[in-house]
Amino acid sequence: MSSSKLFIQTLRGEQTDRVPFWFMRQAGRYLPEYMALRKEAGSFLDLCYNPDFATEVTLQPIRRFNMDAAILFSDILVIPHALGQDLAFKVGEGPVLTPVDNLEKLEALTTDKLHDHLNPVYQTVSNLSKTLPENVALIGFAGAPWTVATYMVNGRGSKDQAETRLMAYQDRETFSKLIDLLVKSTSEYLIKQVDHGAEALQIFDSWSGTLPADEFITWCVEPMKKIVDNIRAVHPDVPIIGFPKGAGAKIKNYIKKTRVDAVSIDTSTSTSWVQNVIQPLCPVQGNLDPLLLVAGGKPLEKAVYHILEHLKDGSHVFNLGHGIIPQTPPENVKMVSDIILNYRR
Ligand code: CP3
Repeated sequence: MSSSKLFIQTLRGEQTDRVPFWFMRQAGRYLPEYMALRKEAGSFLDLCYNPDFATEVTLQPIRRFNMDAAILFSDILVIPHALGQDLAFKVGEGPVLTPVDNLEKLEALTTDKLHDHLNPVYQTVSNLSKTLPENVALIGFAGAPWTVATYMVNGRGSKDQAETRLMAYQDRETFSKLIDLLVKSTSEYLIKQVDHGAEALQIFDSWSGTLPADEFITWCVEPMKKIVDNIRAVHPDVPIIGFPKGAGAKIKNYIKKTRVDAVSIDTSTSTSWVQNVIQPLCPVQGNLDPLLLVAGGKPLEKAVYHILEHLKDGSHVFNLGHGIIPQTPPENVKMVSDIILNYRR
């Protein structure tokens, strides 16, 4: 299947004149129009589960900056929520869940209502696939099992995921069941997103960097491989981007074992290493420091050109190394977007 969309062509390794771009967390609190809609919706979760609002919020950054891809507006934590775990987003605190840290609590979760619960998200995907400009690709997403499990076990974000790593060491059997449940529900969730019109998928493993090498294979690589296989069995052509944040040199093996189509590279990874070692293996996405988008000016401009120049000879989707942060001035996002739109290889 050929596509006329630059983003999809790049993920397939085809040569394009211009580098396509989008930014992780491109919809969000740095945009006044997002804040206005979130207020109208009531809460962040109300926004995620309202297809009209979620569609509108997804489109907001595209209108301002002309990205080549739009990412479905939702959150990685809708999966634990759909499995029956309590979830609230508290302003200033981030997500708060009732911890699932033993077998009894794990067994209280169920996939019975998974798709009923997630139906508004599928509706958003459908709406978007009908309303996006024809050159803009639609990205569906989910969290990787390890990263989602860190929130489920600990009940909130944590600096080093210690509680979850401890559970994986002390009660391996239960933890393994939790990961299996996430592999199953995440695979089904992503397949449904493609059924409804998602043209590419990104799987966020934001906390893969805190695991020792062997554990990284067990809890990040193997579950990811199963998800990729499950999706390909139904949708063999949809490009899948993995984001094993913090994995460093382990990315190489991650690509080989999971057989993802592309990888998203975090800020700490050197672009010359990516150029020499990773780009020959698969298309890459990344990796501007989100703080440079806050800083703006010359340092920002210099870093954008540095990334474009280093990665221009292979397949590259320009992106950040992690999500846009709320303090980001929208005019800095505009400046970067304009540089990329005018840059030619
Ligand atoms: O990229 C996009 O524009 C699409 C939407 C998107 C959100 N979250 C919206 C969101 C995506 C792709 C995510 C992914 C996500 N969510 C990840 C993986 C990527 C990453 O950032 O590492 C993780 C770990 C989460 C979990 C999560 N959601 C946390 C820890 C928080 C609180 C921190 C914060 O930034 O507030 C959220 C909330 C969240 N998800 C917001 C948005 C726009 C802010 C909510 C608000 O409006 O108050």
